[in-house]
Amino acid sequence: MNKLFKPYDWDPAYQNSLDIDGYLIIPGLLMDPVREQLTDSLDKIQAMLSTESEHSPNHYAAEYDPYLASLIAHPEMLELVSAVLGEPFRFDHCVSLNRLPGNCGVQWHSHEYGEGESNLGFLRIFFYINGFEVGDGGLKVVPGSHLFRDAKIAAASDGELENGWLVGKRHPKTGAPLLIEEVSATEGSVVLMWTHAAHAVSPRKRLSETRWTVVYAYRNPGLPSNARWISKEFELSGIPEARHLMHLY
Ligand SMILES: [Fe+2]
Repeated sequence: MNKLFKPYDWDPAYQNSLDIDGYLIIPGLLMDPVREQLTDSLDKIQAMLSTESEHSPNHYAAEYDPYLASLIAHPEMLELVSAVLGEPFRFDHCVSLNRLPGNCGVQWHSHEYGEGESNLGFLRIFFYINGFEVGDGGLKVVPGSHLFRDAKIAAASDGELENGWLVGKRHPKTGAPLLIEEVSATEGSVVLMWTHAAHAVSPRKRLSETRWTVVYAYRNPGLPSNARWISKEFELSGIPEARHLMHLY
């Protein structure tokens, strides 16, 4: 099994940062050969998007590419997920999030899972294969927003969020006003994010190369998950080493 990550230690400062901010950037964590293979895989997924299929190749990306599938239960992936979520956990989805030149980005939103059950975690692990700059297919976040466990955050612009959902809200742990932050990521960076964190993506500039990104999501079982994009065939026989991670509960 090829190495996935460069050497790192999951120390308490990482967990603390993730739990306080709702997201964590680990710069340049992906091994270079992994970045190369992921770029090839995501390029192939991108080429499939124009074809009609019951399960869309971006939502069910791992089902269309053996290399993407092989990372679901990669020992280093499982070690990271276990450190953050604790046991037991399940695989939820693997989605390609490529941003082609001129892509219009994504409006502010959050995702659902266990709104009333704070012991149930839902973690997204983004692989930013070639990174991104602020304002160019870049991630925007609101540190602390995940602590509200609000699955319905939505705004069409920064201004709409600032004049809407953010009004009067303070960080539940630090007491500071909630603010929008635009972040950047070097190539090979890995970003962890709790599902309820408010996030958006800025448009990709027309003269930039494609932003190659894939996300793997895992959760503590206990409730249904709307984002669980796993076909029955893949659940039953997709990759034997991940079978124990596939069922809903
Ligand atoms: Fe999202």
